[in-house]
Amino acid sequence: MKVLITGGAGYIGSAVASACLDAGITPVILDNLVTGRREFTGQREFYEGDISDGALLDKIFAEHPEIEATVHCAALIVVPDSVSDPVRYYQWNVAKSLEMLQHLIRNGCHRLLFSSSAAIYQASEGGSVDETSPIAPLSPYGRTKAVCELMFADIAAGTPLRVVSLRYFNPIGADPQLRSGLQLRYPSHALGKLIEAHKSGEPFRITGTDYPTRDGSGIRDYVHVWDLAAAHLAALRSFDTALAGATSLAINLGTGTGTTVRELVAAFNSVVESPVAVVEAPRRPGDPAGAYTRSERARRLLGWESAHSLADGIRDSLRWAGVRDSVLSGSGD
Ligand SMILES: NC(=O)c1ccc[n+]([C@@H]2O[C@H](COP(=O)([O-])OP(=O)(O)OC[C@H]3O[C@@H](n4cnc5c(N)ncnc54)[C@H](O)[C@@H]3O)[C@@H](O)[C@H]2O)c1
Repeated sequence: MKVLITGGAGYIGSAVASACLDAGITPVILDNLVTGRREFTGQREFYEGDISDGALLDKIFAEHPEIEATVHCAALIVVPDSVSDPVRYYQWNVAKSLEMLQHLIRNGCHRLLFSSSAAIYQASEGGSVDETSPIAPLSPYGRTKAVCELMFADIAAGTPLRVVSLRYFNPIGADPQLRSGLQLRYPSHALGKLIEAHKSGEPFRITGTDYPTRDGSGIRDYVHVWDLAAAHLAALRSFDTALAGATSLAINLGTGTGTTVRELVAAFNSVVESPVAVVEAPRRPGDPAGAYTRSERARRLLGWESAHSLADGIRDSLRWAGVRDSVLSGSGD
């Protein structure tokens, strides 16, 4: 079996590609390297180009007629950038995806796994959400994901296309074999900031201690990227049965357990030798309390649940931070 992976040179797409290879599925990667890394495509079928390039997609399908499905990870993902340059985000995430879909349908590739996001849910007061929870994204980035889901569902209803949207929660960790991980040297999420604080000896700032959560700090659902990759394998294998005659479907991918920022710090300090000190700071404007998922649908339809612990995710993030500069040549930040 072959699978086309758009954005396969990025953080999540490269992990999905590695998991496919390990499982005997051949990944064919399409990536324009806007944020992805050539180093993550070594020894893999790799086409450098844009998802909206119809001639390139025709060439890929002519050269790999065995492709049975597309995993669509390619997107721009930086929330503040989407606020300052919304036109670019709608163009790249929505318009280019629409063009790509036409090329997929023309080439007879009708199974689409879409990288969606928990960012589409209405801000929660620290509780859990499931796939039926209200959709109300807070940023243009989140809205491009919600718009894509709606657009894909409409197209699936009127064409042979079938879509499973996988709504990722908060990916952490790296491929356990360290073939790839986060490209950024200084990731802006809480675990990235913790790793930075650990390295520099500066205290870690807990931003917001008055949220309506069990200890007042924000809550997230940290899912190991290798578990996400395993969920894609499960979704590829059970694509048709999971849809059960429907034309489109959404599935949340998280651990099912919320972790507060204070709990994340405690887990981090249980993994490292020299603990990180913390200082408390006010909420950052616009930061919601956060949410975690109820995972019943992923269990029932994909037979999937996360297998790695929070400590595993922290350890693998640290291991990756230790090798990142040697894997990525000429790396920026
Ligand atoms: N990382 C997260 O926290 C997170 C959470 C939820 C959902 N997602 C979704 O998962 C997907 C992958 O995210 P990631 O964290 O791996 O980001 P990433 O930036 O590492 O990967 C995106 C990849 O897509 C490529 N790309 C972007 N636009 C392209 C285009 N027009 N043509 C060809 N290639 C293009 C980039 O070069 C990059 O390799 C995205 O769709 C994102 O919205 C990510």
